[in-house]
Amino acid sequence: MAESIEVSDDAGIRTIRMNRPEKKNALTQPMYAAMTRALAEAQDNDAFRCIIIAGGPGAFSAGADIGEFLESAQTGALRPATLEFLSAIVHNRKPLVAAVSGLAVGIGVTMLFHCDHVVAARDATFTTPFLKLALIPEAASSLLAPQRMGYARAFSMLVMGRPLSAAEARDAGLVNSVVEADAVEDTALKAAREIAALPAGAVAVSRALMRGSLDAVDRQINTEIDRFRERLQSDEARAAFTAFLARKK
Ligand code: COA
Repeated sequence: MAESIEVSDDAGIRTIRMNRPEKKNALTQPMYAAMTRALAEAQDNDAFRCIIIAGGPGAFSAGADIGEFLESAQTGALRPATLEFLSAIVHNRKPLVAAVSGLAVGIGVTMLFHCDHVVAARDATFTTPFLKLALIPEAASSLLAPQRMGYARAFSMLVMGRPLSAAEARDAGLVNSVVEADAVEDTALKAAREIAALPAGAVAVSRALMRGSLDAVDRQINTEIDRFRERLQSDEARAAFTAFLARKK
């Protein structure tokens, strides 16, 4: 069976690929853990100059696995691998390029706020339907989305759950370039090679300067987690997860 997270290394560029196409790359605890490991291994190794995060042609990621949400709602247990992944992506020190085709949903969108360069397919859509699940935004998106795209656009996306097209995501400052679907991977690789060819020390310092202190991001994530945990166990969230898993197509 193919791994649901594939990691490959070539010429200083590590590619982390979400590969669970039958579930549109919905992310499970083992997938988060594998992505965390792949990020961690690259941190203190000078051989890695850039990391690409990618999905498949029709789906970057459908977000967190809702079956696991339901389990958390029933047991009250947090999903530790998700929290470790969030910490790993926030504190990642290597340039991170995302290649987004098709659907980006939930954490498939919010992780992009922690990337340095995002390439999207013309058919890509960016949706954060947290409220439809009676949940709230995560991954510090409640802080970073208003900063990045302005409150009005952030509210429309994060709270109202309105999708952004690839062009809208570019206009909102979430995406760098929009290309044909079959050119996404090559365009992302080209950007990664461009970054990898720069002096690594200067890239690391510039990146750290531009990102500044991560204290506010860490604090926001912790606050979001507290609220998220409460929401997860609400009757309305439980009902929404059950309805999704039982829906007739
Ligand atoms: N968690 C668990 N399973 C998911 C999933 C998720 N986040 N997203 C998709 N899947 C599963 C579907 O249940 C379906 O499984 P099945 O074939 O066993 O029934 C399979 O992936 C394919 O999804 P499907 O809904 O048939 O594809 P689609 O193209 O019609 O719709 C989405 C794709 C992403 C729009 C739709 O699946 C969806 O809304 N998913 C939930 C997204 C979400 O709310 N994520 C969490 C955000 S916090």
